[in-house]
Amino acid sequence: MSKQVSLTGIKPTGVPHIGNYFGAIQPALKLAQRYEARYFIADYHALNSMKNPQELRRMIYEVAATWLACGLDPDKVLFYRQSALPETFELSTALMAFTPKGLMNRAHAYKAMVQANTESNRDPDDRVNMGLYTYPVLMAADILLFDADVVPVGKDQVQHLEMTIDIAQSINNHYNRDCFVIPAPLTSEETKTITGLDGRKMSKSYGNTIPMFLPPKQLRKLIMKIITNSQTVEEKKDPDTCNVFTLYRLFADEEKQEELAARYRNGGMGWGDAKQLLFEAMDEMLAPMRDVYQSYIEDTKKLDDILAAGAEKARPIARETVRRIREATGLY
Ligand code: TRP
Repeated sequence: MSKQVSLTGIKPTGVPHIGNYFGAIQPALKLAQRYEARYFIADYHALNSMKNPQELRRMIYEVAATWLACGLDPDKVLFYRQSALPETFELSTALMAFTPKGLMNRAHAYKAMVQANTESNRDPDDRVNMGLYTYPVLMAADILLFDADVVPVGKDQVQHLEMTIDIAQSINNHYNRDCFVIPAPLTSEETKTITGLDGRKMSKSYGNTIPMFLPPKQLRKLIMKIITNSQTVEEKKDPDTCNVFTLYRLFADEEKQEELAARYRNGGMGWGDAKQLLFEAMDEMLAPMRDVYQSYIEDTKKLDDILAAGAEKARPIARETVRRIREATGLY
């Protein structure tokens, strides 16, 4: 039996942090072990909110270099840019004809904008472009174009996926044939929450993140800022309630974890020592990835080539889906 298809959409929003890596990137890359894995950069989605061309290009390169540095193997999985496949936009137009306007009215990103406008006495549609309004249709096209069986999503994207399923089913029902594979959301069993510098969930909006590819000096400086309690060096400490140790677990093997835990419990270890060990473990794991990242950022031609080759491999799949929908609709 052939493997099921997984599809991961990556919004180009700059260099991810450690929380993104353990919470989303690493689990998404693991899918390649069990699925025929497909990954794409959702660059037209980014255009809705990013109108500066240089910045958008840079974001695309940064996110492509990041995923490659994290281990995405473009020889084994599909890796392409959404914008390289015009079939996406043809399919999106076809899906529009089956998408009730009321469905889009309920999409949460749009609703949030309207609510913010209303609350500040602006016109409800202020700064709402049609790209934002029809975002779920484009996302449905991304997914349906590539016959995705499963789509890994965070909580915020579940509604979009439900809309994709709605639209696909109504087309399959209308034409009484399997135009589309019906996708299912894949919400990770253990949604790992990674703690940030202040012990809260690592998140850009809290300003407590550790970016993935900081140069070692800056990385060390940031780690020294992790908030700890005010226990003295002599006091015995509890590793399980310590932000430094929580992060250490992600980077050190079990033996090293046990070693450090013992030093916590015995007393006589200061926070500076624990942080230094965390820095060393982090740097050991991140340094090789940082090097790969840097090599791609300095050679964006290579990134262009990889993504273009990916688009070439993706095109026959996209064409076939469009052919199916054209045939079903009578537009052939
Ligand atoms: N909407 C997703 C996000 O904000 C990105 C995305 C676009 C996507 N198209 C997709 C994700 C298709 C999965 C499948 O993160």
